[in-house]
Amino acid sequence: MASPMDELKRHYFFSDEDSKRLQELLPLAEQFQQRMVDEFYEYIISQPETAAILAKQSTREKMSHYHRLWFLSLFKGSYDDIFLENTKRIGYAHVRVGLPINFVNASMHQVRHFLHHLIHDSFSDRDLRRAYREAADKILDMNLSVMTSSYRDEEMKKVFVSRRLESALIHLSERFTYGLNLVLVLALAGVSLGVVGLFISDLMKIFQGDMEKGILSALGAMLILWMMIELLDNEIKNLKGGSFNILVFVGVIIVAIVREILISTLRHDDLKTQAFLTVTLLVLGVVYYLVSRAQKLKG
Ligand code: HEM
Repeated sequence: MASPMDELKRHYFFSDEDSKRLQELLPLAEQFQQRMVDEFYEYIISQPETAAILAKQSTREKMSHYHRLWFLSLFKGSYDDIFLENTKRIGYAHVRVGLPINFVNASMHQVRHFLHHLIHDSFSDRDLRRAYREAADKILDMNLSVMTSSYRDEEMKKVFVSRRLESALIHLSERFTYGLNLVLVLALAGVSLGVVGLFISDLMKIFQGDMEKGILSALGAMLILWMMIELLDNEIKNLKGGSFNILVFVGVIIVAIVREILISTLRHDDLKTQAFLTVTLLVLGVVYYLVSRAQKLKG
């Protein structure tokens, strides 16, 4: 089975001939390594973003030492899986220092530019020059491909972790809301039973002789029961995945006010209280009308 590095070489048509050409360039690379490192450093400090990274993460000496070693490794002739792993590690090192990916591309362009000039100035034979240039281009592009894939791997890791976390959180809060809704339905059912009791006790009052009070109270209890049924129905729809219906809540408040008006009449409350309740009912009626109209227009 082909190794990952063999696969990469196949993608770039990197041959033994290319490997030989690169090794032939080693003496030239050694001779001009200082110039390459200096030009690389010049490039880094010429860009505010890379200059800031250098100032924060390293020193000229340390960074230049690493960049020199990498440059020479291009011409050592061992392009195997160890070389591939090393290049991946270099990619991750730059992700860690916070170097934006476009500067990896841009700085690789600088190295390519440097090598093209070096080859051009050092060899007079046109075909030989082209063979050297092509081999150099391939090894630089292979490096670039591996380094940029390290960036992609890091991005994927971030996306993967946060997506998993996100969906776990969403699932948990969905379960929690469902549980709360269930509790609410049970509580509403319990309260409804209480209202049925109230209705029965109000009916009893009719038979005990207090006709007016009995009928009005029973009417009030019936209204509450009706409101409980509406609330329960809405809650059950909600549990089944339906949407929250604001109109039901406005309706519930209207019913509560109507009941209050009935009781207020029985209590013979003063005119001010009764007028206040009537105005509130009127306002709620308008709100109910507007909300239901808006819902119809939307639907
Ligand atoms: C062609 C592109 C580049 C190559 C091939 C390259 C190569 C390397 C290598 C081999 C290392 C050592 C990694 C390790 O073993 O941990 C390194 C480290 C580093 N590089 Fe680059 N580099 C490139 C571009 C840049 C650029 C544009 C910057 C700009 C700031 C940069 C800043 C650094 C820094 C700050 C370190 C860490 C040095 C330390 O540990 O003190 N590199 N680089």
